[in-house]
Amino acid sequence: MKPLRIGLLGIGTVGGGTFDVLTRNADEISRRAGRPITITHVADKNTTLANQVVAGRAVVTDDGFAIVRNPDIDVVIELIGGYSFAKQLMLEAIANGKHVVTANKALLALHGNEIFAAARAKGVIVAFEAAVAGGIPIIKALREGLVANRIEWIAGIINGTTNFILSEMRSKGASFADVLAVAQAKGYAEADPTFDIEGIDAGHKISILAAIAFGIPLSFDQAYVEGITKIEAIDIRYAEEMGYRIKLLGIARRRETGIELRVHPTLIPTKRLIANVEGVMNAVLVKGDAVGATLYYGAGAGASPTASAVIADLVDVVRLIDTDASHRVPYLAFQHDKIGTEPVLSIDDVETSYYLRLRVDDKPGVLADITRVLADNHISIDAMLQKEPEEGEAQADIILLTHETIEKNVKRAIAAIEAQPTTGAKVVLLRLENLA
Ligand code: HSE
Repeated sequence: MKPLRIGLLGIGTVGGGTFDVLTRNADEISRRAGRPITITHVADKNTTLANQVVAGRAVVTDDGFAIVRNPDIDVVIELIGGYSFAKQLMLEAIANGKHVVTANKALLALHGNEIFAAARAKGVIVAFEAAVAGGIPIIKALREGLVANRIEWIAGIINGTTNFILSEMRSKGASFADVLAVAQAKGYAEADPTFDIEGIDAGHKISILAAIAFGIPLSFDQAYVEGITKIEAIDIRYAEEMGYRIKLLGIARRRETGIELRVHPTLIPTKRLIANVEGVMNAVLVKGDAVGATLYYGAGAGASPTASAVIADLVDVVRLIDTDASHRVPYLAFQHDKIGTEPVLSIDDVETSYYLRLRVDDKPGVLADITRVLADNHISIDAMLQKEPEEGEAQADIILLTHETIEKNVKRAIAAIEAQPTTGAKVVLLRLENLA
């Protein structure tokens, strides 16, 4: 049968991996797909490098538009990343009737609603398994495998760089800055690691997962995003003493009043499987009402794992290319005219548990004053740890874990505690999820 002809935009790490895996496993893949899949054209601004990877097996150009307009190409793989240029190319590919496979979570999180509308109008597929958690088939699982369920919540370690940093901080007792330097030296973190360490990359990914879990539009602009730059080694240690591990989680949860959509460092019980996902690995926990909790684990980045997801999408395109568009799995899992309007809740209205580290005078009545403030704000204490003051110091650390409460109550209580003369420093607030 005639090969599916692919135009590849960007032959960096993931593009090179896709070229390699597609070549290496060509027979196995075409046995599954029913026809060969061939990258016939490659566009990259670095044509020297592209020619080295391709070694004469595809036409190389530095002009992406030549690919998206080429009538001999069936599918465009977009692996150049970023928003502006990638968006132009993708919309142009769609306008030219090409199916598109992409790993670009930033583009989908910000402009996915527009891109999917354009694709629907043209009847083409936009597939994005590689956009979330690299090689883990979490999009497939959520859109298809769990289709019977009302999804209740998702909690994911969906950024490998920050998971590596937190794992190293915990195992070596090192500071954030020192471990970030190691992550950059190892090539895990980008030279500009902002998107990773500030939680933005995880925010893009959880926005995509929330859309396909709950049938809502892509809502990254309403997500609460907090990274790991302020995490101190001491809090990792105290959390450990109390039976918790700190992970950067992307969380999406359905509440009666709306959807919680948030990324932040989170204490989770050490005994949970997901708490033991270390280094650059990713894991996503999904709670469905019928199936219960399911956990997906694997490599969230890297050439071959991400290529694995890109090629899975290509095979889906082969299988669906001749079907009526209305018979395909909807882009965002739900029929487009059934997308919900539930609001994304502000972080102040989020309901979770808290870890609070207080620095206070070590004298009678101080703890009573603190617990009174908490009670006045409807906050119930779950556990407490008081550390001995250091030699020669008059203040001690008190760590409080709360039961679930509304965040604005906690912020009000913190303001009252910080106003007390016996409090010596700003209160450290971290959120805690039991994931039971
Ligand atoms: N920078 C991401 C991570 C990989 O560290 O997980 C690409 O999504």
